[in-house]
Amino acid sequence: MAFRSQFLGCGGYLPERIITNAELAQTIDTSDEWIVQRTGISERHVAAPGELTSDLATAAARRALTAAKVDASEIDMIILATATPDNTFPATAARVQHNLGITRGAAFDVQAVCTGFIYALATADNFIKAGQVKTALVIGAETFSRILDWKDRGTCVLFGDGAGAAVLRAVPSNGSTSERGTLSTHLHTDGSNYDILYADGGISTGKSGFVRMEGKEVFKHAVTRLAEVVDEALTANGLHASDIDWLVPHQANRRIIDSMGKKLGLPKEKVVLTIDRHANTSAASVPLALAEAAGDGRIQPGQLVLLEAMGAGLTWGAALVRW
Ligand code: ACO
Repeated sequence: MAFRSQFLGCGGYLPERIITNAELAQTIDTSDEWIVQRTGISERHVAAPGELTSDLATAAARRALTAAKVDASEIDMIILATATPDNTFPATAARVQHNLGITRGAAFDVQAVCTGFIYALATADNFIKAGQVKTALVIGAETFSRILDWKDRGTCVLFGDGAGAAVLRAVPSNGSTSERGTLSTHLHTDGSNYDILYADGGISTGKSGFVRMEGKEVFKHAVTRLAEVVDEALTANGLHASDIDWLVPHQANRRIIDSMGKKLGLPKEKVVLTIDRHANTSAASVPLALAEAAGDGRIQPGQLVLLEAMGAGLTWGAALVRW
């Protein structure tokens, strides 16, 4: 029998502490006006001292399990996307698994920076399609505040901390695009642009490193690559932009999101936006936006949802989901 993965429920978690643009402008040479105009960001959440990526991930996962009405004991696989793990090893997913009281199945991390959630979703979806997993927990969680150079105004204003999670379940499928579940996922990497967005350190280099980015270059690639992968996803399913009910994009820059919405001919109210309040939470941004729009009833069963993201690597990807 063929299967596809259906979203049963989503959850998000944001740390309590909020840093506004005005607060940042007290310590670096920036302004609320510059940040809002260039990025659409007004404020971001930042983890408390001692609050780790696994803590945010666990909180989001609990909310997703509640929304899905699934008990933790039913989870066969946890895939956690993060570029900011608690420790070098074991996987942060193992800590989350323990926090949830699960002792069976598999738990591991994937690393594709801002595209991480799409990578984790694609991995879970393929395990489900292969019939190896019935119920999966997919999480994107980050504490980017810990790898920001708070003196570099070109990067520190852009990011925030948070986590989002989704519970997926195998459902029988006859392959129709009108049937509920994940229709397809599309992943890409091109390492030739590694140096335009990276952390200048890691375990192997012997220092922890901070985010470094050539913003304008990343921006150009984002607009092109996202347009390509969205076309790829629609073509793979014989669908058209006009079929999309909701665009749930990675929240890196309001101008990138607006250009995607425009390309797809979507009215603004069909594009889920959290960037103003969350900033760029890397792997957490897509599931946080999904949790908001599914949680408040905007996304309804049967609607077509397009997820897309681009991040360091460069990595980029998309998923089409019949909700
Ligand atoms: N406040 C005030 N001025 C600033 C700030 C700031 N926070 N940051 C930069 N500036 C200045 C620059 O120094 C520069 O000044 P200069 O002209 O005197 O040299 C000027 O503003 C313009 O800087 P640019 O970098 O050219 O500004 P740009 O319009 O490109 O906006 C931004 C920068 C917001 C970073 C944009 O390029 C962007 O969003 N890029 C894409 C980021 C992205 O998509 N990331 C995705 C993945 S993230 C991940 O994977 C981890």
